[in-house]
Amino acid sequence: MIPIPAKVIPREGTFTLDAGTSIHASEELRVLAESLRDTLRPATGFPFPINSATGTSRVELALDARAQGNDGYALSIRPQVARIAAFSPVGVFQGMQTLRQLFPAAIYRRAPVSGVTWTAPCADIADVPRFGWRGCHVDVARHFMPKEWILKHLDLLAMHKLNVFHWHLTDDQGWRLEIKRYPKLTEVGAWRSDTMLGPPTKDPAKRRFTGKPHGGFYTQDDVREVVRYAADRFITVVPEIEMPGHSRAAIAAYPDLGNDIDKTAVGTWWGIYDKGAVFGVDDKVFRFLEGVLEEVLELFPSTFIHVGGDEVRKNEWRESKAAQTRLKSLGLKDEDALQSWFIKHFDTWLAAKGRRLVGWDEILEGGLAAGATVMSWRGEDGGVAAAKAGHDVVMAPQKPTYFDHYQAKNDREPIAIGGHNSLSDVYAYEPVPRALKAAEAAHVLGAQAQLWTEFMPDPRHVEYMTWPRLCAMAEVLWSPTETRNYDGFKARLRMHLERLRALDVNFRPLDE
Ligand code: ACM
Repeated sequence: MIPIPAKVIPREGTFTLDAGTSIHASEELRVLAESLRDTLRPATGFPFPINSATGTSRVELALDARAQGNDGYALSIRPQVARIAAFSPVGVFQGMQTLRQLFPAAIYRRAPVSGVTWTAPCADIADVPRFGWRGCHVDVARHFMPKEWILKHLDLLAMHKLNVFHWHLTDDQGWRLEIKRYPKLTEVGAWRSDTMLGPPTKDPAKRRFTGKPHGGFYTQDDVREVVRYAADRFITVVPEIEMPGHSRAAIAAYPDLGNDIDKTAVGTWWGIYDKGAVFGVDDKVFRFLEGVLEEVLELFPSTFIHVGGDEVRKNEWRESKAAQTRLKSLGLKDEDALQSWFIKHFDTWLAAKGRRLVGWDEILEGGLAAGATVMSWRGEDGGVAAAKAGHDVVMAPQKPTYFDHYQAKNDREPIAIGGHNSLSDVYAYEPVPRALKAAEAAHVLGAQAQLWTEFMPDPRHVEYMTWPRLCAMAEVLWSPTETRNYDGFKARLRMHLERLRALDVNFRPLDE
């Protein structure tokens, strides 16, 4: 099982699915019973009637007020009955993921597999997650990923008990979300003329390109499908709309939003742009972003809304007369304070609508907005500073949560952005920084893996960089620290890769 449950007590005997197995659930768990039936039926070919009075064996789903809270569940498997009891439906759902993994890996196939006896070992399992934020970020701006693959990815997150999908929807090289009020964001901003190839270089003369246009975007109906599909799997979709930097695609669509710029183009190379990538600080920019966010809030029920905030080249504001006038009229000290003022505006704006702002750790510079949650990516320091100041944090340090780094030191790996985060590095990760005292550590909501896609042109490549590192991350985020053991994990992973193989996941094979 991955992630390994908090407590497993093996019992004598086995439980076997057969043509007489039924599923039992109360009315409020009916949808989950149907979902369990639909996941067990294809590979076994058995009907799994729901609440049938007759039959040989049964799977029971139950809500139990005495059961473990916080998404936990109890799973008891005996020869005739497998029972999942939880405080809430989300716990029942997590227990279903565990139960499914206890059958042969072929249970993940979508057509009957012959010659398999569908047994699971008897056991008592008591399980509860270590962290509430168990995330995976995917950048669909650098390379557009089709909706169908996003749905596949959500299935895999659910299988690993991950519960946050951080969807990086906008950046310099593409705007991927339909906004009805501002159609040019996708008419213009979703398309670029060319795309830089690896290896990464900062020297413009050395850049190589595909020579082909690239683009794509999600309509609001697409987004509604993704959000619904995620919710059915107890996954929250946290959208990211980058501001004030990484905004070149939006500025290409509406040059008025930039700093003294008449015209710019959607980015084609990787790196931070010196010009044309940072929003201005005029009222019209604020009204524009509020208009975008109003549509975002209608689409995404997530409490947290990510506003980016990273890597703002403040020279754009230093060199802009309008920005300097604004800075002086606000009585601000410098451009860091101006960014802080910008983010504070949206912190207040989101709070008034019952939402919470989250941003990359640069939002600390110049003073953190009152309600802001910090995503710590430049190491742990941002997370430590924010937690000490009483703010919630999500840990996302480049080492080892950036899955755009190499997985191994050899010359056979596909070109990556640089750095090195091996499977064992990810498995050894401890999300709570040592520098935090217990009360401060309570501000660490959890952590997440980052998939930046500069050098991942398609879903197959993203999967190669994701798996099995995300299996390791799932265990870091779900399982108690005491259960962690790399050798044990690798032994379980060998079996688990059979499940991923059945699901057509292009994982990186283990080094032997
Ligand atoms: C980031 O990697 N710029 C958050």
